[in-house]
Amino acid sequence: MAGRQDWLAGPGGALRGEIRVPGDKSVSHRAIMLAALADGCSRIEGFLEGEDTLATVAIFRRMGVDIGAPSPGERIVRGVGLHGLRAPQEPLDCGNSGTAMRLLAGLLAGQSFDSTLVGDASLSRRPMRRVIEPLARMGARIEAGEGGFPPLTIRGKNDLQSIDFNNEIASAQVKSAVLLAGLYGRGETRVREPRPSRDYTERMLAAFGWPVRFRTGEAALEGGHRLRATEVRVPADFSSAAFFLVAASLVPGSELLLRGVGMNPRRTGLLAALRAMGADIRVEAEGRQGGEPVADLRVRHAPLHGIELDEALVPDMIDEFPALFAAAALARGRTVVRGAAELRVKESDRIAAMASALRALGARVEERPDGAVIEGGRLHGGDVDSLGDHRVAMSLAVAAQLADGEVRIRDCANVATSFPDFAGLAAAAGFGLRPAG
Ligand code: S3P
Repeated sequence: MAGRQDWLAGPGGALRGEIRVPGDKSVSHRAIMLAALADGCSRIEGFLEGEDTLATVAIFRRMGVDIGAPSPGERIVRGVGLHGLRAPQEPLDCGNSGTAMRLLAGLLAGQSFDSTLVGDASLSRRPMRRVIEPLARMGARIEAGEGGFPPLTIRGKNDLQSIDFNNEIASAQVKSAVLLAGLYGRGETRVREPRPSRDYTERMLAAFGWPVRFRTGEAALEGGHRLRATEVRVPADFSSAAFFLVAASLVPGSELLLRGVGMNPRRTGLLAALRAMGADIRVEAEGRQGGEPVADLRVRHAPLHGIELDEALVPDMIDEFPALFAAAALARGRTVVRGAAELRVKESDRIAAMASALRALGARVEERPDGAVIEGGRLHGGDVDSLGDHRVAMSLAVAAQLADGEVRIRDCANVATSFPDFAGLAAAAGFGLRPAG
């Protein structure tokens, strides 16, 4: 991570023009992982050049995979086959990325060598028992730090068992860890979830030629097949588009067109939530890109009002709550969020982080263990802390556009994990946003 970086944000003017946000983070991680384990040479286009996904690239290079970067957003991966990774000589650094660490825990459990996964201060506080427990039931041997936190040491083991796993939480990371271990397992590995989580691992395994059966809330595969190199086209990340959807909805006079956004239904919950709040967002030029639905999103300013959020939407917008909280703080009336306790174990405790920052700007926010009650109103300028959480930082920059005075947002360098040029792109669209001196 770069040094500490503060932003000075808002107030801003109308947002106008066309934007293409960077590639999808979830898809970019998985594309590198599966391409590395495939037979043959894969090409990835639209890859996210962010710190999280670059950490995944660096990890596979350390395990002997040749990954070329002929141009920005392009990767050529010379796959080594399912059993071709080399033992790393040093701990593998996942940086800030929970996705990298949890998916790799599953994938490395099936290797013949030992490995250690480490992360930054935030990742070192994130719970790993949720992957260690099902993987241990498959026969994996994984040691964690005190309390089930990173670092993780994964003992090499080549004869994993398959499992039939009922996950208690809806988590694509846990599901994916089990499925990736299942590639190395004997028999059928099945994962069921209480509510469906994003299904990129399943879709991408199929694209790489691995037979996988999946439907809403359930996925199953058998070990013993091979992955075949392919071409992956990564759509623009809906979660990065989300900040612009909220900002353009809020700021009078705005009209923005967001190009080529990934529209996987397991990701677009915020669209439904914003529309329920009165947003004017049109879906145009719908198409498919590399098996994923994509569309252009045209968003125009519209007055927003508070809602009781439908709990069924929570997994489909799990990364968008900081942005939703910003929208709710500036909407007319009350917004109630329930059933979102997972927010407390993201890159930061996102309920506490957003509640305390929005309160510092004058909002009325009541925290609940699994959500919050937010009374919309006016915001003033002030000094707030993102706690090093990329999505909190960007959401506070959105809220600041409507504040009466300038907002200093502390500790924004981690925005580079998912959206390196957010500040530049946002300022070009009309945001009041610049790095603090
Ligand atoms: C992700 C899954 C989600 C999400 C994260 C990316 C993935 O995490 O919050 O940003 O790529 O699988 P959980 O599985 O913990 O819900």
